[in-house]
Amino acid sequence: MSYRNSKVVIVGAGNVGSTTAYSIVNQGLCEDVCLIDKNHEVAVGQALDMRDSVFFMNRNMNVHAGDYSDCTDADIVVITAAAPMPKDSNDRLEMLKPSLHVVREVVQSVMDSGFNGIFIVVSNPVDIMTYYTWRVSGLPRQRVIGSGTYLDTARLCRALSDMYDLAPASVEAFVLGEHGDSEIVSWNSATIGGKRVDDVLRDNEARTKGVTREDLQKRTIQAGWEIFSRKHNTCYGIASSTTAIAKSILFDENRIMPVSVCVDGMYGIKGTYLSVPTIVDHTGAKEIVEIDLEQDELAALQKSAELLHSFYPRLDA
Ligand code: LAC
Repeated sequence: MSYRNSKVVIVGAGNVGSTTAYSIVNQGLCEDVCLIDKNHEVAVGQALDMRDSVFFMNRNMNVHAGDYSDCTDADIVVITAAAPMPKDSNDRLEMLKPSLHVVREVVQSVMDSGFNGIFIVVSNPVDIMTYYTWRVSGLPRQRVIGSGTYLDTARLCRALSDMYDLAPASVEAFVLGEHGDSEIVSWNSATIGGKRVDDVLRDNEARTKGVTREDLQKRTIQAGWEIFSRKHNTCYGIASSTTAIAKSILFDENRIMPVSVCVDGMYGIKGTYLSVPTIVDHTGAKEIVEIDLEQDELAALQKSAELLHSFYPRLDA
């Protein structure tokens, strides 16, 4: 894989898949972007539309629709295909059953092509789907990564930076655990410009009208539903976080990001996919970083893992 010879296949050309493809094209991250969809004509339409944008980009790229044979030499396959989320739902876990067979079929077809790259799983419930992809694919765990709470982390950083009129990237904080209701914020490691967020909150109480950690965590969990309840999908945030993961792989960036990986031994968790800070390079999830959590945060992270793990026996049914 090199900057000049790299390929990303995106399975699912719906809102999330096509926005992710466009985000990758916009950033010129690879040479070849391929879209696969069960409705091939939709994938063709999206690819044609995106090809028109390449003229305006800062590098030439090949954007096209394809089939699973395109995965043979892909560096990354992004899975966004899933059953549609029920409109009145507010729990990603409700998508598990209908999405399970979709993801199984996708992973089997990708593996049948001889694929030997890295999966980025986006389909919800993402932590369980990532575990499932790992199991069905038989790939080493480092090469199956879920988009996890990188997006939630961006949402938290946005909320904090808005309060102090800062750039979100000036906030360093991690949302960990399930991409869902049981996720937690690692306040112990959260800083703004090197100052602990706890201290920033305390020192600016009047300015922020007494906003608490709990308010911020709740807002982060709710953020997806604020969007979903209005437009029945979310796409820009998730596409951007997925693109950032792909970039760290394709450019061998070694960024530390909270993504869904197989945690086995660290944080007192055994064999469960959920988000913890992870170094991502061209090999995938190169190394999990074990940060110091407060005692109740660690307990909550372990509870989040237990919740996710409790779904594993149902996957064989
Ligand atoms: C969200 C979807 C991707 O939180 O779960 O926007």
